[in-house]
Amino acid sequence: MQEICKSTIIILAGGQGKRMQSFLPKVLHEISLQPIIQYVLNLGLALNSNTTDLNVVINEELNNNPIFKKIHSKFRFKKILQKDSLGTGDALRTAFYKINSTNDFTLILYGDTPFIKKQTVLKMYNQIKNGSDISIIGFHSLNPKGYGRIIAQNHNNVLEIIEEKNANTKQKTIQLCNSGIILVKRKILSEFLAMSTACSYNLDNEFYLTDIVKFSVKNKKRSTYVIAKESEVTGINDKRQLVHAEKYNQINIVNKLLDKGVIVMNHETSYFANNISIQKDVIIYPNVFIGHNTAIMRNSIVHSFSYLEEVSIGKNSIIGPFARIRPNTKIGDNSKVGNFVEVKNSILMNNVKAGHLSYIGDVTIKNNVNIGAGTVFCNYDGKKKQHSYVGHNAFIGSNASIISPVKISARAMIAAGSVITKNVEEKDLALARAKQINLKNKSKIS
Ligand code: UD1
Ligand code: MG
Repeated sequence: MQEICKSTIIILAGGQGKRMQSFLPKVLHEISLQPIIQYVLNLGLALNSNTTDLNVVINEELNNNPIFKKIHSKFRFKKILQKDSLGTGDALRTAFYKINSTNDFTLILYGDTPFIKKQTVLKMYNQIKNGSDISIIGFHSLNPKGYGRIIAQNHNNVLEIIEEKNANTKQKTIQLCNSGIILVKRKILSEFLAMSTACSYNLDNEFYLTDIVKFSVKNKKRSTYVIAKESEVTGINDKRQLVHAEKYNQINIVNKLLDKGVIVMNHETSYFANNISIQKDVIIYPNVFIGHNTAIMRNSIVHSFSYLEEVSIGKNSIIGPFARIRPNTKIGDNSKVGNFVEVKNSILMNNVKAGHLSYIGDVTIKNNVNIGAGTVFCNYDGKKKQHSYVGHNAFIGSNASIISPVKISARAMIAAGSVITKNVEEKDLALARAKQINLKNKSKIS
């Protein structure tokens, strides 16, 4: 662990990302609703909590992107602008001279490679401790097309990394691939970059970082590799790889939930964001969407076709089927949000029941409240969202329209079909609907 503290981390996130076929920069594409680069930044922080040693190479487009700006303000890494996308070697060269670090090691991570585990990086540090000058994460692939191949001798001696483009037919059959992740002694990196000239740039005007291996072998330095699973080191360059990575990550999330004691009935139809917290004995039925920042406490049930996002749900509550719970909503214990109920920016405390067909937007609802079928909180006055309040043990009859802002006090009752525009005092019954009149024999049905 000691060595990790002394390393400078450089994440390469520039480049054109052409293969992604998108206006959105490659590293901002999301896996389980989290931008790819954020996975890499989390690893960087786990390895080295000192953000002054965390550097990211970016291009202009990324720098101007609002999503990236948000990520930057959260992680506070050093940004290094690479003017032209002239390859991974060029990206590193740009960074190296702007960082001026005195750390003994440099760890290079790729912004498009999100699933690297800390344990695998620690294995690289061990190799360096045991005499390597460069350690690379490699992997075996049955379908290695597109990846750089590791040319190695027995006893884990890497001679060269050859890119697919430059590989001959025989080299293309090699299944040992380069993940791109490299740990290197600063001295060697510094010599490699100092030696690089215009000749280091190939016909496509790209300078490859992977050439560092050949350089170090020439200079009698030792390069070795550690092996990781292909799923861990997969690079995401195009939409196919993105979707593949998403599937892999969903299975990982679900496995973690199952291990914690959550029942996920059907992982193939339900979807989970990366940053959720679900406690044991929660049951998630098929076809459920659990979005960002969602927390569900034990014994609660989410029935099919429910969509939750930025929501916290207490213990023993029942959600759905067909419930939509939108951001900034807190639901307490023993509560129920049933079919075709939408809740947004609201607090429903304990034992609140909204069983059917309601819209609950911008409301605070205290304990033991019943919201009848078809109740609508009319929260929007055309300009602003207005907030309403419902006190404990209040009862709202079916098909009531509550024109916000109003305060319905504790133990008050709202008669079914009422349109409520004024506050209702504690224990009062509010009736706000046209009185029924029956006209004798006026029915037109013979
Ligand atoms: C790279 C490796 C390849 C390896 C593969 C693993 C090189 C030359 N090739 O290929 O051996 O098998 O990763 O996924 O390194 N970037 C910049 N500036 C640039 C170009 C790229 O910052 O000018 C960044 C990209 O954002 C990306 C990373 O560097 O995160 C790797 O570049 P990419 O173009 O994805 O390389 P690959 O073709 O995947
Ligand atoms: Mg890549």
